Amino acid sequence: MKVLIVGGGGREHAIAYCVAKSSKVEKMYCAPGNAGIAELAECVPIGAMEFDKLVTFAKEKEIDLAIVGMDDPLVGGLIDEFEKAGIRAFGPRKNAAILEGSKAFSKDLMKKYDIPTAAYENFDNADEALAYLETAKFPIVLKADGLALGKGVLICNTLEEAKAGVKEIMLDKKFGASGNTMVVEEFMTGREVSVLSFVDGKTIKTMTSAQDHKRAKDGDQGLNTGGMGTFSPSPFYTKEVDEFCRKYVYQKTVDAMAAEGREFKGIIFFGLMLTEDGPKVLEYNARFGDPEAQVVLPRMKNDLIDVIEACIDGTLDQVDLQFEDDAAVCVVLASDGYPVAYEKGLPITGLDEFKKHEGYYCFHAGTKFDGDQIVTNGGRVLGVTAKGATLKEARANAYKATEWVKFDNKYMRHDIGKAIDEA
Ligand code: AMP
Ligand code: GLY
Repeated sequence: MKVLIVGGGGREHAIAYCVAKSSKVEKMYCAPGNAGIAELAECVPIGAMEFDKLVTFAKEKEIDLAIVGMDDPLVGGLIDEFEKAGIRAFGPRKNAAILEGSKAFSKDLMKKYDIPTAAYENFDNADEALAYLETAKFPIVLKADGLALGKGVLICNTLEEAKAGVKEIMLDKKFGASGNTMVVEEFMTGREVSVLSFVDGKTIKTMTSAQDHKRAKDGDQGLNTGGMGTFSPSPFYTKEVDEFCRKYVYQKTVDAMAAEGREFKGIIFFGLMLTEDGPKVLEYNARFGDPEAQVVLPRMKNDLIDVIEACIDGTLDQVDLQFEDDAAVCVVLASDGYPVAYEKGLPITGLDEFKKHEGYYCFHAGTKFDGDQIVTNGGRVLGVTAKGATLKEARANAYKATEWVKFDNKYMRHDIGKAIDEA
């Protein structure tokens, strides 16, 4: 079959890696892709939001399956456009992708169906939000309703900070229309765990757990980023936590979406916080996590295409989803200055080393070709993933492999997976 992957980051490289392994796939395209994906797929210079061009391309090349990896096109309705044109596509339709696209929607859904999450209020008026904050308990969390590259969440320690936050989100529109509505949420503490799952509208099968590191600097300091590294599985995701979430979170979410007439087919990513009062949902995403995919997918035993087709066909109940018993760690190599300002176009060397070692992967996030030379082309440049029999071994392997790659202004966190030592 001919497959088109939409996206061009590390997550899409990890997806492409799995798709390339499938015996069913004869040809793979990626729009727009990157220099790493180009080794596996034919990259076409069409942006993920250029829906008309993507549909025309898919029809022209007689694509049998389109896989959409990114949040923006999913929330914007790319799956619906593919389907209208008769192209089989993997991901939630627009009416279901709202699970990620609107935090106010997802909070209301959780409240209505009694799915554990932080207490909250939604506001579409800045004065009302300010009045509410006058009597609120601090710290408190402000969230722009819509997509904001993972940056629309502000944790405010004082009323003054919260007032400035309301101004930023709702009045100055720092996150654009995403800030027309704002969620004000109770601050929770605890460990965070990401659980990704395949969903076919009625059945849900969860993948192995993972944990991200969202802040730019060691010790969880600095600004929030798209994610600076991950490990999988999470030792904090115990059997008890899993049982609780199976009972109160996973299937309930899928059933709630179906009951709302928003049948969800695709990936649901549960961002969980393990609080003293039990696990609570921090957020939903409607796609693989980035860089969670880079530690979860290399450990998956199934043929990804089989699982995706089962999701589309509604036969996921017949799939025995399996993961390896080992562990994986991904360290993101960024360009110094990310997530604010950074240079692009810096030559990268040492990438061939990964071909010589089994269990090591270099997923490209922001790279491109400059002639024959691969150069940096984004803030997050590469995701270096390594497996190991244990998390500690995987971490040591991943950090060893980060030494193989060189480019100017290379920056990484040095404490990815440090929490493992406390487990
Ligand atoms: P979100 O995009 O909703 O996952 O939020 C981004 C990050 O902000 C999360 O990964 C948490 O670290 C933090 N966060 C979000 N909501 C809360 C909350 N209610 N309490 C504490 N931290 C939060
Ligand atoms: N790594 C977090 C995300 O993909 O949203």
